[in-house]
Amino acid sequence: MYITRRERFSSAHKLLNGKFSQKENKNIFGKCYELHGHNYELFVTVTGKINPQNGMIIDLKELKKIIKDKVTSKIDHNFINDVSFMKDMVTTTENLCIQIWKELSEPIETLGAKLYKIKINETENNSFEYYGE
Ligand code: NI
Repeated sequence: MYITRRERFSSAHKLLNGKFSQKENKNIFGKCYELHGHNYELFVTVTGKINPQNGMIIDLKELKKIIKDKVTSKIDHNFINDVSFMKDMVTTTENLCIQIWKELSEPIETLGAKLYKIKINETENNSFEYYGE
């Protein structure tokens, strides 16, 4: 069985690689090199065994709190390029998925479940899924 919690955050970013000059970054990233923002939707899917004592795989109140503490409180209404877990990375949604996985997988295990998937909708048309490979 799989359980998915959705959270939303609105954040600004610029796609750039710190190793490249302004001109190179403009060539590589085009309009995405300019400051702009997205209304992201984050889907955190967990799996695991049902705890016979409470009938739950994970306490969704606890999952909600972990996502808030580790991710949305840091990134919502912020500049993603400055967020601690995205420092020195190109702030693509691919990298966001991987870094959010790293932030959440241990705390979810502490709650007795297993992180299965991170999905982020960046726009209506673009979505990204990561299974921690
Ligand atoms: Ni963007």
